[in-house]
Amino acid sequence: MADTKAEASRRRTFAIISHPDAGKTTLTEKFLLYGGALTSGAGSVKAKGDRRSATSDWMELEQQRGISITSTVLQFPYRGNVLNLLDTPGHRDFSEDTYRVLAATDAAIMVLDGSKGIESQTRKLFEVCRNREIPIVTFINKWDRPGRDALELLDEIEEQLILEPVPISWPVGDGDRFRGLIDRRSGDFIRYTRTAGGSTEAPEELVDAAKAEAEEGELWLGAQEGVELLDVMERDFDAKRFESGELSPVFFGSALTNFGVRLILDAMVDLVPSPSPRVDRNGDPRPLNAPFSAIVFKVQANMDRAHRDRVAFLRVCSGQFDRGMVVTHEPTGKPFATKYAQSVSGQARETVEQAFPGDVVGLVNANDFRVGDAVYVDEAVQWPLVPAFAPAHFRIARTLDTSKAKQFRSGITQLDEEGVVQVLREPDVGDQAPILAAVGPLQFEVVQHRLENEFGAPVELAPCSWTTARVTDGVTAEKLRGMSGVTVVTRSDGEMLALFESPYWLQRLEIDQPELTLTKLIAEGT
Ligand code: G4P
Repeated sequence: MADTKAEASRRRTFAIISHPDAGKTTLTEKFLLYGGALTSGAGSVKAKGDRRSATSDWMELEQQRGISITSTVLQFPYRGNVLNLLDTPGHRDFSEDTYRVLAATDAAIMVLDGSKGIESQTRKLFEVCRNREIPIVTFINKWDRPGRDALELLDEIEEQLILEPVPISWPVGDGDRFRGLIDRRSGDFIRYTRTAGGSTEAPEELVDAAKAEAEEGELWLGAQEGVELLDVMERDFDAKRFESGELSPVFFGSALTNFGVRLILDAMVDLVPSPSPRVDRNGDPRPLNAPFSAIVFKVQANMDRAHRDRVAFLRVCSGQFDRGMVVTHEPTGKPFATKYAQSVSGQARETVEQAFPGDVVGLVNANDFRVGDAVYVDEAVQWPLVPAFAPAHFRIARTLDTSKAKQFRSGITQLDEEGVVQVLREPDVGDQAPILAAVGPLQFEVVQHRLENEFGAPVELAPCSWTTARVTDGVTAEKLRGMSGVTVVTRSDGEMLALFESPYWLQRLEIDQPELTLTKLIAEGT
């Protein structure tokens, strides 16, 4: 048996959050390059000019649209450690999937485009991380392009996110004249050389102050001024405040030319905490070296069209996973033999033999597994309930071909169980026309596509006028039923929701009748 605690301490499990086009994919590729998992541009995460055959594209729909909808995990070695990068969907839209992936990470890298700063999607994803108190490392990317002033960007982070930015690296030059970075911890100036297309690591040279001044002149002096100012402002790193999500170490660089990529990977190892004991539903931490336990954070069906299978993704929380071991699925109490355990990086699947806390394992045909479920050996565990997300988009689903009613129903059930969309029912309407609720409208496209292609049930998803949902109870539901502009429905997990057509109407109701139970769901969508 390996030493579980020692293995856990070598793990870092994180995600990258960013607004589309800030450079998340490019940075991911460069991580693999620096991790030795990718030797050149070939076989990259999202090959240039060939985005449709991206490694992380799973479903046909993704391929058609050239976007990544489902999440993947990439595992790669770095400096004797094992880094698990959970990929969050990179489209402009928001989905519940994104939240769930973030619930399985220990940290996030927030990538900003240096010419744009904080963008809408950055802010939303950041809020999710903040809710969970996830430590955030900031990477200000594209410094090889003319951008904004570095100090101005720091102000923006501080003001808009209420997050204290602490630069660890500071750029010398920018745009075409971006020469390298000063590591504020050591005072070293790391000068980089560009390589063709950034397809190999950027050679680095440590340059002392005298040589830097002689060779880089005003660029060096300008950078020095910036560093001195930061020192005066006492922008110093504090591990505790970083771990509680109050402070973010900031790195500058260019994913394209590889400048600064190594420093940020080093930060993942040196600054980001390794997996810690996960707290169970009773509030007790389960020690890392307790018997094996894991949490299901994603369920994905039909990833492999040839096999029509269903994969449940688990994050290991304690103990050692060995392929073939029989685990107990907590909610059903049923044993499950883990013969088909896989790591899934895009379309490439490899069998996983062993895994430790922080790692992700995909279990094929784990049909009863749902998001938030616990699996364990020996000592039973339940994880805290997965929060319900506030849907902001609603559609009524109806089959376009009545002879396919059965396929329609089983398709809806399946997609509901996978968490692709929330399925709501009005008491009097029943199963023929369920209401679908989503955090982001792209979820509906996925539903429509999958119902038609996987279940042979073409559907119409009719728009409806609701805009806001609140959790309610039986007593309030009775009072609401007589009112206009509000509809009470039941979600498949049994929760009652009140759907409002106008947020103002809801606001008035909250003021006029404060005794009503109208609880806000977390994380309002777009
Ligand atoms: P995303 O996953 O966050 O959506 O962004 P992605 O990495 O796909 O990058 C978006 C665009 O920004 C790409 O250009 C990419 O090459 C470019 N980019 C990423 N990092 C840097 C950087 O450090 N410097 C510069 N100058 N550009 C960067 P594109 O033209 O949309 O696509 P491509 O054809 O170049 O791949």
